[in-house]
Amino acid sequence: MRVTRAVVVMLIAIIVAIGDAHAAASGQSIHFDQANKVFRLDAAKVTYAFGVDDKGRLQSLYWGPRLDASDRLPPAVTPPKADGIDGDINRVRQEYSGWGGGLYYEPGVKITFPDGNRDLELHYQSYSIKGDTLYVTLKDIERAIVVTLEYEMDAGTGIVRRSATISNQTATPVVIEQANAATWFLPRSRDYTLRFLSGRWAGENDINERLVQPGKTVLESRRGTTGMQNEPWFAVRRNDADETHGQVWFGALAWSGSWQIAIEQDQVEQVRISGGFNPFDFGYKLAPGASLSTPSFYAGVTTDGLGEASRLMHRLELTKILPQAPAPRVRPVLYNSWEATGFKVDEPGQIALAEKAASIGVERFVMDDGWFGARNSDKGGLGDWVVNQQKFPHGLKPLIDRVHALGMDFGLWVEPEMVNPDSDLYRAHPDWVLYMNGRPRTEGRNQLVLNLARADVRAYVYNALDKLLSENDIAFLKWDYNRSWSEPGWPAVAPDEQKNVYVDFIRNYYGILQELRKKHPKVEIESCSSGGGRIDLGVMHLTDEVWTSDNTDAFDRLRIQDGFTQAWTPAVMMAWVTDSPTWVNSRTLSLEYRFLSSMQGSLGIGADLNKWQPQDFATARRLVAEYKAIRKTVQQGSLYRLVSPQNGSEQSATESISPDRAHAVLFAFLHSSTENYPYPTVHLQGLDANAKYRIHAIAGTFDPRTPLVASGAYWMHAGIDLLMRGDFQAAAVVFDKE
Ligand code: DGJ
Repeated sequence: MRVTRAVVVMLIAIIVAIGDAHAAASGQSIHFDQANKVFRLDAAKVTYAFGVDDKGRLQSLYWGPRLDASDRLPPAVTPPKADGIDGDINRVRQEYSGWGGGLYYEPGVKITFPDGNRDLELHYQSYSIKGDTLYVTLKDIERAIVVTLEYEMDAGTGIVRRSATISNQTATPVVIEQANAATWFLPRSRDYTLRFLSGRWAGENDINERLVQPGKTVLESRRGTTGMQNEPWFAVRRNDADETHGQVWFGALAWSGSWQIAIEQDQVEQVRISGGFNPFDFGYKLAPGASLSTPSFYAGVTTDGLGEASRLMHRLELTKILPQAPAPRVRPVLYNSWEATGFKVDEPGQIALAEKAASIGVERFVMDDGWFGARNSDKGGLGDWVVNQQKFPHGLKPLIDRVHALGMDFGLWVEPEMVNPDSDLYRAHPDWVLYMNGRPRTEGRNQLVLNLARADVRAYVYNALDKLLSENDIAFLKWDYNRSWSEPGWPAVAPDEQKNVYVDFIRNYYGILQELRKKHPKVEIESCSSGGGRIDLGVMHLTDEVWTSDNTDAFDRLRIQDGFTQAWTPAVMMAWVTDSPTWVNSRTLSLEYRFLSSMQGSLGIGADLNKWQPQDFATARRLVAEYKAIRKTVQQGSLYRLVSPQNGSEQSATESISPDRAHAVLFAFLHSSTENYPYPTVHLQGLDANAKYRIHAIAGTFDPRTPLVASGAYWMHAGIDLLMRGDFQAAAVVFDKE
């Protein structure tokens, strides 16, 4: 089409009539309809809209499948008057509310002023658009408390990022008692089921579902860090939605401190989801002129079921969140010494393991706990980040050199935020930990938590790690964190500033990670916390992978990994092959089964290679090579959870497809066959129906009558029959486009 001058003039006229319009090259757009005072964001398959009502309040208008460009959302209006019991304000779908005016649901922000006033009502002031971000400014009706909301929609997934910055422009300090990043509104309905993750040490990522009913479900951590009691993620589905069909809203918080996500349905069936800092024991003192930014809360919507909701999250993480986004490097196959040697690490022992690891194709050798200070058990040494002279008389260099000579890079375990009372650091600085005057200092795993909010502690931790990385050729840090907080006091500051520790600790943790990454750009970092205790979009922005669970039982892992992938991408899901029987269940599993379980994520080996027989090395060598051929698809492709391992299922299966749909890999597992039943036919998903795919088995066998080449339609509709009988069987089949 020829674009004439007249057409251009007409388009400009339309845009001016609509209001401000911003269509970024990135594929998302932000519009402000001046006449109706409606903000509208569009990207991928999603539209998100809110407006300013006649009283100046910001109201949620729409969040769902993408609307037509010509659709005009009606303006926000004050709802009909309520009664004296429920109060008018509770019917207003406020995008971000101050606690005031008789509000009974979770507010965006709650503040106490020095004069005892605690009422806050936020009204619209102005907006601006910078790059892909929309900034909307609100102000209290009387006091100089200004809140700036941020909205950013991801072009690829339609996932919206929201956060809020609260500025104290009054002349006195104020205390923020609650600060959420966002409140998300669903259409008014009774038709919702909440899905969320819960867990404990060695038992992470249980999937739970409950009907959304009047009342509130609170997902949270009060532990100072993310924790594994709940993951900072939610999904709310229509009651008829399932893994492959139906409408699902989902989201996750980018915060590694105490957090809360509340899902509530009020008396008029309004369902809202709010999330941010955990308000329990919260009290952030904000000086005049200072501001507090909440974490970001990311949320999306799909009409294609829970599986698609997960794939959208995975895509966001790979293309926007991870440090190497949008093109993260594939994870190297690593070896970790922990389950083989425990604290008994030394130069000859580690070199012996490294030589064996290299022989099976391992690319990164990681020495775990025990290499520093007087660290011979978990009772001492933490905090003293100097190489143990008895175990490594010549420092780490001979080991690192040998690891390099074997063609691998070298990684090291650290737990920087902790200290054992039996350490030189604690003897010198007993006041550097979290504690409350005159109260017991509760230990967890014989250790205390350093107060990273303190400038001197932050400097100590940064300098210790910087020295380690500057003096040694280290490619990878496994950053561990093995207890939750107790007595979160900070006696060195004024009593009314002590609760700032919940925010300042985490900001300093992020700050150290940022500075280290800047100074040592080649170093990759794993977030570990006794397993999966510190996994969230905040830490994922600054680390390259996460430790999934201390439970490395390959059968248990199927369920844990299934829960993990609800929210987090398999690209960061570290999964080691360890010894059998496992310490967890004393269960015996074949080496091939253990490999296939781990190959669904980022593969590691954690077994004691000194005990392996020649045939074990041969199996491992073959499967590591197979893994390298499929890992990009597994780590960065689209995951389809074909058969769920939940609820005692006897079978489970996953499928990963490369973004261009040229490669797919199927993993299938059998717990126990019973009564001569064959393994159910497995139907693939997401393949190119018209393309031809050739199959080959990495492990296990399929029915000999199966065609070796067939269309995507065939594999999706006729499926594949795997021959699995007995206990703990596993198979993996690769599909390559011809
Ligand atoms: C807990 C981690 O999850 C383990 O993998 C191991 O690194 C130990 N800490 C070491 O103390």
